Amino acid sequence: MDIAFSIFVIKYFMRKSVKTFLKSAAKDYVARSVNPPVVRASTILFKTMQELRKHQKNIAKGKDVSHWDYGRQGNQTTIQLQKILKELEQAHYVFLTQTGFSSVALAIMSVCRPGDEIVISDCVYRPTQKLTSQLLKEFNINAIWYNPNSLEDLKNKVTKKTKLIFVENPGSNTFEFQDLGKITSFAKKKKYIHLHR
Ligand SMILES: Cc1ncc(COP(=O)(O)O)c(C=O)c1O
Repeated sequence: MDIAFSIFVIKYFMRKSVKTFLKSAAKDYVARSVNPPVVRASTILFKTMQELRKHQKNIAKGKDVSHWDYGRQGNQTTIQLQKILKELEQAHYVFLTQTGFSSVALAIMSVCRPGDEIVISDCVYRPTQKLTSQLLKEFNINAIWYNPNSLEDLKNKVTKKTKLIFVENPGSNTFEFQDLGKITSFAKKKKYIHLHR
């Protein structure tokens, strides 16, 4: 029974129990392991070029796959963890990265393009400040800082060029707690891409 089927069975029969989900989701009846075995791989084998191309097309379409076409994107173990986190967080998608900061950089770089603005709370982790105010500047992406204690300030900083609102909750070192519900509904109303950490 593969992980996707296992999650389906648990969701179908035991909808309400997170404990049951956590105990059962990662059982691997192929490897006969109660927890998923740790897979480490770089180059992935395919029997034919056709099989590889078909798999790449499925990945591009966002289909549910149990392995990638190249190990740098992840492996069976990370895919299983992504699926479990997605279910627990009720998220649209989960993509794991090697470190916290690489997730920050990947998320920002995935959405911002030259000419865009990013509205960002001024309490963020120092390397995130450097990335947004220094590196992004070289690519003509402007970071606009807002006061994490003022939703009005955030609203006033958003313009037509805003591609991303970056919220860090709680703020690094200063621990401001922002109302994510209010920020999310503001972003959704404006149809801006919204991101928080
Ligand atoms: C808010 C915040 N962002 C990013 C990071 C970086 O995480 P990592 O060290 O896993 O790259 C940290 C680490 O403390 C953090 O506190």
